[in-house]
Amino acid sequence: MTITFVGHGYVGLVTACVFADLGNMVYVVGHTPEKLKRLSSGDPLIFEPGLAELLKKNLAAKRIVFTNSYSETVPKSDVVFIAVGTPPKENGEADLSTVLSVATEIGKNLGDRYTVVSCKSTVPVGTNRMIAHKIEAVMKKGTEFDIASCPEFLREGSALTDTFEPDRVVIGSEAQKATDTLLRLHKPLPGARVLVSIESAEIIKYAANSILATKISYANLISFICEKAGGNVDEVMEGIGLDKRIGRIFLDPGVGYGGSCFPKDVKALISTGSALGVDMSLLTAVEKINDQAKENIVEKIIMNTSGKKIGIWGLAFKPNTDDIRFAPSTYIIKKLLKEAYEICAYDPEASINSKKIFGAKITFTEDPYAATKDADALVILTEWNEFKQINLARVKKSMKTPLIFDGRNIYNPQEMELLGFSYFSVGR
Ligand code: UGA
Repeated sequence: MTITFVGHGYVGLVTACVFADLGNMVYVVGHTPEKLKRLSSGDPLIFEPGLAELLKKNLAAKRIVFTNSYSETVPKSDVVFIAVGTPPKENGEADLSTVLSVATEIGKNLGDRYTVVSCKSTVPVGTNRMIAHKIEAVMKKGTEFDIASCPEFLREGSALTDTFEPDRVVIGSEAQKATDTLLRLHKPLPGARVLVSIESAEIIKYAANSILATKISYANLISFICEKAGGNVDEVMEGIGLDKRIGRIFLDPGVGYGGSCFPKDVKALISTGSALGVDMSLLTAVEKINDQAKENIVEKIIMNTSGKKIGIWGLAFKPNTDDIRFAPSTYIIKKLLKEAYEICAYDPEASINSKKIFGAKITFTEDPYAATKDADALVILTEWNEFKQINLARVKKSMKTPLIFDGRNIYNPQEMELLGFSYFSVGR
């Protein structure tokens, strides 16, 4: 099949590479010449394990082409996916301006062949129908198209596996021809097929992200109780997670969820529900607990550190990505700078992005041990694998005071005590 993606962010680029790899001809439309040039030379612009290799392989096979032209791509496409950003507005609503202007461009360029237009960007219920109206307003008479909602569930850091091996493919459409086209496109992929209405598909995406965020906030809430009452949150989560109705996954407490999805999507669902007159206090509580999780580690540091020199390990909002959008690290570092802490940070991938925010206000190192040199405390904010088996004796020697605040519970408290550290983790 021939497919066009408009947008080359995480969702657009990863899905485009996967469909190209499955043998389709894929066009990716962008608008910044510099970025298109880099993408065409095999630079994915983002760090995602395996993505550069997959991109290069499919560029070499001439199955993926980057362009700024709608007129050379949309008319030959069986499916056009919109995969542009929907950043949150001040009031939490998703900003749809780019999605809708892209829809107009697609409408102007639809050709003689039947085309399915589908929004991969996370958009509030009702948006796909708005896209259809935008297209109808500008398309040539007689153009044959349908809209369908086909949300994406990939995670940063494991985006390729998630896309090649989805648990389910959700298709929201009221046109059998559109459903059949998307079923054909997804045929090589495993996972259940969930065929629903457009509205249900749109809501599924927000409902999925919001329940995952709710699980995380629930784990954080229980961690607050464990800290005060003397329990161990890992044991509690193990104990409840073995119940198949609950499951252990996404019950890791920490310094709160971040990233470009959960914070934005929970806010957007609150905004949608509130506008419809639904009491959204369950999700406002989820947000409040998430803020509290970030605040707690700051309080622990202030209460228990005597000096002002702090090393930080981990800036990315999660491991295996260089993404720092809504990363807990940014919030926590801002708070610590306000308290006049001197910070030296290490992250294997995300330092460049964090430097864009903090500049010279903090020091960045290329080596985890260097971040701990003469430090009064070490703070761990992302659970990168390389921290799990690091030489802790060397870390201890390098620090001024052997004090660790572990926001991701990567070490065993008893072992840390034996090694001579004062060790604060979450809910244990
Ligand atoms: C999330 C969803 O998991 C994907 O299914 C979805 O497609 C994506 O949003 C999206 O809407 O595009 P992502 O934000 O990439 O994916 O990463 P997650 O693995 O979900 O982690 C999000 C945040 O939750 C991270 O800050 C992570 O540290 C935190 N988290 C996750 C916890 O604090 N505890 C957990 O148990 C799990």
